[in-house]
Amino acid sequence: MSTAAPADTRAVAARALAEIALGGRSLREVLAQQLPQLSAPRERAFASALVFAGARGWLRWNAALPLLLQKPLSRRLGALHALLVLGLTQLEDLGVPAHAAVAATVEAARALGHGAQRGMVNAVLRRWLRERTALLTQLDADSVSRTRLPTWLLQALYADWPAQADAIISASNAEVPPTLRVNLARVTRADYVQRLAAAGIDARPHAWIDSAVTLSASLDVTRLPGWGEGLCAVQDGAAQLAALLLDAPPGARALDACAAPGGKACHILERSAVQLTALELAPARLARVRDNLARLHLHADLRMGDATQPALWWDGVACTHILLDAPCSATGVLRRQPDVRLHRRASDLPALLAQQRALLDALWPLLAPGGTLLYATCSVLRSENAAQAAAFVAAHADAEALPIALPAGRADGPGWQILPGEDGLDGMFYARLRKRGRC
Ligand SMILES: C[S@@+](CC[C@H](N)C(=O)[O-])C[C@H]1O[C@@H](n2cnc3c(N)ncnc32)[C@H](O)[C@@H]1O
Repeated sequence: MSTAAPADTRAVAARALAEIALGGRSLREVLAQQLPQLSAPRERAFASALVFAGARGWLRWNAALPLLLQKPLSRRLGALHALLVLGLTQLEDLGVPAHAAVAATVEAARALGHGAQRGMVNAVLRRWLRERTALLTQLDADSVSRTRLPTWLLQALYADWPAQADAIISASNAEVPPTLRVNLARVTRADYVQRLAAAGIDARPHAWIDSAVTLSASLDVTRLPGWGEGLCAVQDGAAQLAALLLDAPPGARALDACAAPGGKACHILERSAVQLTALELAPARLARVRDNLARLHLHADLRMGDATQPALWWDGVACTHILLDAPCSATGVLRRQPDVRLHRRASDLPALLAQQRALLDALWPLLAPGGTLLYATCSVLRSENAAQAAAFVAAHADAEALPIALPAGRADGPGWQILPGEDGLDGMFYARLRKRGRC
């Protein structure tokens, strides 16, 4: 029997947040590694909520620390630093009552091995509570700490979407419960919503995306009814539009060129019995596609390879449908991936743009005449979206953009842009590019 003391939830969250915000690691990876040390599902859920909120609020509450500390914290005290940010996050964003937030955060300092710093943690949080009105005014005077987004991204948002930037910022900071994709090959949405209701889970069907259901609160999705049987998956409604827009009929020869973790590939197969090749560059990520297909009882031809090098993996038979869900800035999904704001740099963009261009150019010859390539990103930056698609169409005489008209978003260049929060959706861009000629 283990004699180890139970892990302190806030200390686990602080260590995780330090790795993400100070160590540059991905939130999902860190949570997958750190949460298992908490045995109770409620503790894991709370630690996860703390880390998500801490990453979302880092640029605000981290900016408060120099106003509260008598001297800067040593760089060696990363977890303690993150614990202070989490203390402010609990007080201001999570509505934890002040006495509980302060007492538990002070106690977590001991659990982190910094018992000697408990007085400092207590003093910082109590000073915040005493001076919060003036300190909030100071934080609001700075655009980064006001909006919780980095300067480069604010500049890009106001340049690309001057009229919508404030709404994008507010949606990017919202806490959103998961949206599910009901596996319509196995169950109707109405029946699945009934199963959710019978399990006491409140859920709302999306108004015009036929497979989407949004839960009213976050929960451990593996406990959802029918999860093990593959009756549903977690996927934002905007991402569920990919399979609808690709619209591959049964028997179509389709390629998902950037497939991991496989959400869109699985959805394509749930909708129609296509012959799908799912390609992915990263071996560990390809394993996630395999796991998702297995859970949903679906089959695809899985290949590991670089989509820009078809000679190494393509069998030479033209595709009628190609999905290119390209690597991108992920600026449309900040509400679900709050760490992106901390890790993405303006200097990443030129390489992403070049990669998207190279993928489009390399995949186009694989498409049969009359076939459709759906270009998708979860970005809101026009350079990755409308401008990228427009440049492609201009450079390829045999390419034409097919119209898209959806109840949310707007036409932008040759494609369609949904901004985060519109009809409750993530930000996504789609362009349907048809190759002239007949199949
Ligand atoms: C936006 S994600 C795809 C998400 C996926 N379509 C889904 O719905 O689950 C982009 C994926 O492309 C992969 N990727 C990046 N460059 C690639 C390349 N040259 N060839 C194949 N896959 C690539 C990345 O590893 C990443 O898994």
